[in-house]
Amino acid sequence: MCGIVGYVGSGAPGGRPQGVVMSGLARLEYRGYDSAGIAVVTEDTERVAMSKKAGKLVNLEKELAERPLAPGTAAIGHTRWATHGAPTDANAHPHLAAGGRIAIIHNGIIENFAALRAELLDEGVEFLSETDTEVAGHLLAREVDRGLSLADAMRAITRRLEGAFTLLAVDAREPRSVVGARRNSPLVIGLGEGENFLGSDVVAFIEHTRDALELHQDEVVEITPDGVTITDIRGLVVEREPYHVDWDASAAQKGGFATFMEKEIHDQPTAVADTLRGRIDEHGRLQLDGGMIHETILNSIDKIIVVACGTAAYAGLVGRYAIEHWCRIPVEVELAHEFRYRDPVVSVRTLVVAISQSGETMDTIMAVRHAQQQGAPVIAIVNSQGSTIAREADAVLYTRAGPEIAVASTKAFLAQITAVYLLGIYLAELRGNKFPDEIESLLDQLDAIPAKIQRVLDTSEPIRELARTMANERTVLFLGRHVGCPVALEGALKLKELAYIHAEGFAAGELKHGPIALVEEGQPVFIVLPSPRGRESLHSKVISNVQEVRARGARTFVIAEEGDKEAENYAEQVFYVPSAPVLMTPLLSVVPLQLFALELAAAKGYDVDQPRNLAKSVTVE
Ligand code: M6R
Repeated sequence: MCGIVGYVGSGAPGGRPQGVVMSGLARLEYRGYDSAGIAVVTEDTERVAMSKKAGKLVNLEKELAERPLAPGTAAIGHTRWATHGAPTDANAHPHLAAGGRIAIIHNGIIENFAALRAELLDEGVEFLSETDTEVAGHLLAREVDRGLSLADAMRAITRRLEGAFTLLAVDAREPRSVVGARRNSPLVIGLGEGENFLGSDVVAFIEHTRDALELHQDEVVEITPDGVTITDIRGLVVEREPYHVDWDASAAQKGGFATFMEKEIHDQPTAVADTLRGRIDEHGRLQLDGGMIHETILNSIDKIIVVACGTAAYAGLVGRYAIEHWCRIPVEVELAHEFRYRDPVVSVRTLVVAISQSGETMDTIMAVRHAQQQGAPVIAIVNSQGSTIAREADAVLYTRAGPEIAVASTKAFLAQITAVYLLGIYLAELRGNKFPDEIESLLDQLDAIPAKIQRVLDTSEPIRELARTMANERTVLFLGRHVGCPVALEGALKLKELAYIHAEGFAAGELKHGPIALVEEGQPVFIVLPSPRGRESLHSKVISNVQEVRARGARTFVIAEEGDKEAENYAEQVFYVPSAPVLMTPLLSVVPLQLFALELAAAKGYDVDQPRNLAKSVTVE
């Protein structure tokens, strides 16, 4: 949601600030937005130059081509995902204050904006938009009018704001400075030479620098061409070590594929291999990426609760089967937004595992904080380095999927399952549930997965071909049992998100308890079939479920293990994936379903990378 970019450089006023900010906004398009805008600090000390437009970035680019902005020294830019007020030109960011001297952009929701707006209206302030953001702009202007620097003014207003926000502002009278602040919303700092950057995430400036600094909760940052000053809300300077981003700009490009999503599906063998790389030391101990939870605590836990949303929650559901089986610890998987509102039973003996690609999903952040307030240790499984969840958790295990740009999560899902499995293997070893040779065998099973995913990708044409014939379907059902169940849920979610087709995933055994009423002649049903080599009863039970829907006229499409010829008796078409131990199969069987959704959406002419109404990272509750 909302992309934010800021830039300041030491050169003479020119086009670089606008260029850097516009390319940063283009890179942040994946976050989801419905309007865009930019403000440039020029040689005019009374007014910043500004341009903004409803709709996609191309509208803003057109506007800038028709009405160019003057050369500048600093700039801020924004892609807005509407919350307060429709996605119009007027509500697009930046918003101006102090007669045009100040420009401000914002990600998040200022919860006390109505009271603040009323206060400002009483003072005679005129509002030009319906946004909560404009309130922050006028508050900033009031402080600057009182003689405060922009940075001091930012600190003053953040003390008055409630809710979630990343704010960036520029002042025409401080042409070599951009000021930012954050609470419950992301902002990272990029360190250049003679220039510095701000962005909602490092993707915004990765083509210019891979050296970055985190900005923590309730901190204010001022970037100038030669330096970065971080202060806490009271104005005390904070020293912080930079970190180096371990991927480069090419990782955030399409790499010859038509869409980011397709590229990311093809990145999956690498995402799993990288997530596994060098994780277990010679004593079988898991190498975390940050923080730690003492082994005595991990030995004493009596329950695990996974908190996550969407696809990340489905990774948790897959992980539950493995951790319970390997470690004999009960595992609950809770949608993060439901977690804290149901007064969950959490104690110091509950290990909370937060799974998030972005590390900025507000629902998951709030669940983590709630768990910590109850004294529970929290491990984060996160993809984005330095993100809020990674920072706030007691320990972090990064999924090394690289940047995931497409809104629909694919490679992050596989990397999340891999990381949860690593955690399960580690706990099993630590708690003495598995012997070293069993641990080694599980790790070998995981190590074999990337090559098998590659085989699924290399043999994917039949499912893509099927997808191209199904553009007119209105409903598609997905069934699975055991670990196949979350795979079915994920298959349905992908189809909904990308192709806007009604899709439902069900536990196959649940079918006859109601959902089978949906099945009529010609209804497409995808079934994730367990291996016949696994628990025999599981395979035959799902075969029975296939027969049940087939008997009612459904068209059945089965994802089955290579060599399972019996599947062909019950399916219109079978899509084979390589054989793997049962718990490893979700890492393979989900791939054809991802490709199915991708191809079907493309056949319908939809924007696969940025589906309608969705944001990549949901930073509001
Ligand atoms: O960044 P997160 O992993 O915390 O995001 C969680 C969900 O919002 C995300 O998985 C969402 O469901 C995706 N659109 C799924 O493709």
